[in-house]
Amino acid sequence: MLASKRILLIIGGGIAAFKSLDLIRRLREQGAEVTPVLTRAGSEFVTPLSISALAGRKVFQDLFDLTDEAEMGHIELSRSADLIVVAPATADLMAKMAGGQADDLASTLLLATDTPVLIAPAMNVRMWEHAATQRNLATLRSDGIGVVGPNEGDMACGEHGPGRMAEVPEVIAAVQAALADGPLKGRRVLVTSGPTHEPIDPVRYIANRSSGAQGTALARALGALGAEVVFVTGPASVPPPEGVEVVRVETAQEMLAAVEAALPVDAAVFAAAVADWHVLGASLSKLKKTKGGLPKLEFAENPDILARVSQMKAGRPGLVVGFAAETDDVIENATAKRARKGCDWIVANDVGHGTGIMGGTENAVTLISADAAEPWPRMPKARVAQQLAERIARALLDAH
Ligand code: CTP
Repeated sequence: MLASKRILLIIGGGIAAFKSLDLIRRLREQGAEVTPVLTRAGSEFVTPLSISALAGRKVFQDLFDLTDEAEMGHIELSRSADLIVVAPATADLMAKMAGGQADDLASTLLLATDTPVLIAPAMNVRMWEHAATQRNLATLRSDGIGVVGPNEGDMACGEHGPGRMAEVPEVIAAVQAALADGPLKGRRVLVTSGPTHEPIDPVRYIANRSSGAQGTALARALGALGAEVVFVTGPASVPPPEGVEVVRVETAQEMLAAVEAALPVDAAVFAAAVADWHVLGASLSKLKKTKGGLPKLEFAENPDILARVSQMKAGRPGLVVGFAAETDDVIENATAKRARKGCDWIVANDVGHGTGIMGGTENAVTLISADAAEPWPRMPKARVAQQLAERIARALLDAH
């Protein structure tokens, strides 16, 4: 898959640096040439010897190493790559990149290049969530830098949360996507997917039958066309696709926050079955049965994420696509929904009893735009996804 692709791998200082060793092996297995660069902090975690043994070539470490400059200047080093991968990308490296600093070899290479860059952040959860890091992340994204991970989980420091470096297969998939020559190369696309869970109390929630299958297939299809995909998913029953940035949420409110954090994007597709309501004042302790009494649930409306993004005054995605799951008067209802929410396209589907669509493997959709309603034949969800991804690619190409 990566035959003769030249990858400059910058290894930052963090416990996740050990993953870079396996990353080098896997990249080379796929045929890539890996030129490693080790930061000073990185060399506290992995040794130059093990890296060069795995990479089968010299490790670059110093900006002012005269031998390196004689062999290959730092400008040439970064320009001769097809892709620069920073893994792990520490909070410090991200800050340097966002600020345009160049005070060591890694940061100088990153500033001196016009080669695409992919970063795999890894850091303590508080550092990741800090406003400064999130600000730097937004800057890097708007500078066109690809980001894979971080994942949520247990951390070496004993804490739990987002900050773990993406796993090696995820980084590989992101490298493949970054180097893929598809029509969506260089485009960032957001996909929401799955149901949301709205808590009643700590053990009960309100949900719906969405499996997340259509949204997952769509994210995969968009990635295959070269897009950088942010996949915001509720608790779905199908696993998320590989090689995309996965943001897991539970409630509609969390989904809105994740969507807002993922912007700006070139296109946004809202395939999630978002709960329309949440339980007002969900109990913090488990509701108990009381003699003769039934719980009284009061509801409040959830934010309409699709409508909010569609109606953004500044920074609206170039293309906004909604889904309309209907049981009656499918086309009329979906057409009205498109106009009401303000999205560009709506993908209408009949989820009525007996269609087997919700939670099933096939879908029969009608693509509704401002000037047409185009019925597609019933086909597997993966095929619907592929066709929709191709239409999105065409629309983005036509717009520029
Ligand atoms: N949607 C959303 N946020 C919500 C509700 C829906 O982003 N709070 C998005 C869905 O992801 C989908 C589209 O809006 O793309 C249509 O959702 P649907 O639930 O069918 O529409 P409703 O607004 O609930 O309309 P109605 O209840 O009248 O069917």
